Amino acid sequence: MKWIKVKNKTEMACIAADILCAQVLLKPESVLGLATGSTPLCVYENMVKRYQEKKISFADSKTVNLDEYYGIQPSDEQSYRYYMDTNLFHHIDIPPENAHVMNGMAKDADEECRRFTGLIHALGGIDMQLLGIGHNGHIGFNEPDDHFTMDTYCVTLSESTRKANAIYFKNGLSDMPEKALTMGIRPIMQARRVLLIAGADKKDILQAAFNGPVTPQVPASILQLHRRLTVVSCEE
Ligand code: GLP
Repeated sequence: MKWIKVKNKTEMACIAADILCAQVLLKPESVLGLATGSTPLCVYENMVKRYQEKKISFADSKTVNLDEYYGIQPSDEQSYRYYMDTNLFHHIDIPPENAHVMNGMAKDADEECRRFTGLIHALGGIDMQLLGIGHNGHIGFNEPDDHFTMDTYCVTLSESTRKANAIYFKNGLSDMPEKALTMGIRPIMQARRVLLIAGADKKDILQAAFNGPVTPQVPASILQLHRRLTVVSCEE
């Protein structure tokens, strides 16, 4: 594991964008696993800037997103599809058919999770997975539990995650979905490289995840077992 501690979000965004763009420059047809939340926003901004400056093209790249709320329209401003379109996909040259997000409106959630698993296989697996981390140690929406869930699945969100993410919903908690579709631990651990980014507010949970035991109570701790993990965290 490589842990890069930087001063602030600007530096973190720049280093994370360097790592993701290097992956695409070395292998233009890379499969990138992407994340949402507030932390990756500055990284995506940086990637868009590099594309606009013609330093990089994503024309041959493919992306698969970690998670999506269940029961939410892709056009809903709170959906992760909307987030990805407006913060990244619509500003770079990735062909729309190459940018995959699970369908939060799928009638059969389990079937949608199986479809996504098949898709990742068909794409040849994930070359680099970008991750944030929740205050409770969740990655994607893999919540603290008494076991790790390996396969991509439909999860009931924990109270703490619903409270943390409710600020993004107009009517707060009452608008907030109770379920989400998330990549399970297996596709994340099978990614050839993992890049986890975290702001200064995540210091305590990073300690628990990377200097404590590997436990499903802190889902990110499983990443200690990944052979090519890079963590970029902010000091302030
Ligand atoms: C959401 C996402 C996670 C993300 C987490 C942290 O719950 N599903 O993938 O890592 O938020 O978000 P933030 O970066 O806003 O703290």
